[in-house]
Amino acid sequence: METRDFELLIGQNIIDKYHSDSGRPDVFELVGLEWDLLDDVWPPSYSPGGELFADLIPFASMSSFLEMGCGTGIMSVLAARAGVERVIGLDINPAAVRNTGMNAERHGVADRVTARESDLYSAVGPDERFDGLYWNPPFLNAPEDRVDTSIWHETMFDPEYAKMRRFLSEGRELLTTRGRAYLWFGEALGNPALVGDLAEETGYELDVLKKIEMSEIPDALADAFPADLVGGEGGQHAAWHLHLLELSPR
Ligand SMILES: C[S@@+](CC[C@H](N)C(=O)[O-])C[C@H]1O[C@@H](n2cnc3c(N)ncnc32)[C@H](O)[C@@H]1O
Repeated sequence: METRDFELLIGQNIIDKYHSDSGRPDVFELVGLEWDLLDDVWPPSYSPGGELFADLIPFASMSSFLEMGCGTGIMSVLAARAGVERVIGLDINPAAVRNTGMNAERHGVADRVTARESDLYSAVGPDERFDGLYWNPPFLNAPEDRVDTSIWHETMFDPEYAKMRRFLSEGRELLTTRGRAYLWFGEALGNPALVGDLAEETGYELDVLKKIEMSEIPDALADAFPADLVGGEGGQHAAWHLHLLELSPR
């Protein structure tokens, strides 16, 4: 099977599981707090991400923070709770914008967190700058001609990583002099050169703050991978991992 067809298959499995699960909760617990979850929003309850390692992001030294693709808005709320005064959550999905607003209200930080509907940075004002940018991006490189503009395809797929490239290159111009970008990302097929190449191309130094190997991946996410394709130790696709990355402009 072609690599990108495999990524499409993984994505469809995840969509079927995360979107259509009749046990999908309206409220879930993560990082010791409760969170609202609307339909059609990426559910961190199934697949916790960078928010598990939010303490590695230096919020204490930031006064402004932008979360791209905020979904339920957990990282935006954690940033505000850690003291960041101005937090902007952006998402192309209007349900995610509402969901981030609900969670900001729930945790008493609605005065610091603003959520906006936005295609990448389209809703950022010309004079807005940020000490931190973060994204848990659509992470699968499916074939462009098999991907549509539905919310779940936007959430899962980034053909040729065009969105991530724009997140980094356009984001670089929005950073303050001390600003950094952060990514929670996994190369589905374990392409270890991918993020390094993107960082090089878009002008960042790359640091790995946290790396999780395939064997440590939460069960809910591992379940979405077809066992016969992922394989066991030494299997064709076993090198998959996740990491929290810090990118500093060169
Ligand atoms: C993997 S989900 C992560 C959601 C949330 N940040 C989290 O970690 O739970 C990716 C998010 O990026 C959003 N997204 C995808 N393409 C986007 C774009 N062009 N502009 C803004 N948000 C986008 C999706 O709607 C989705 O909410």
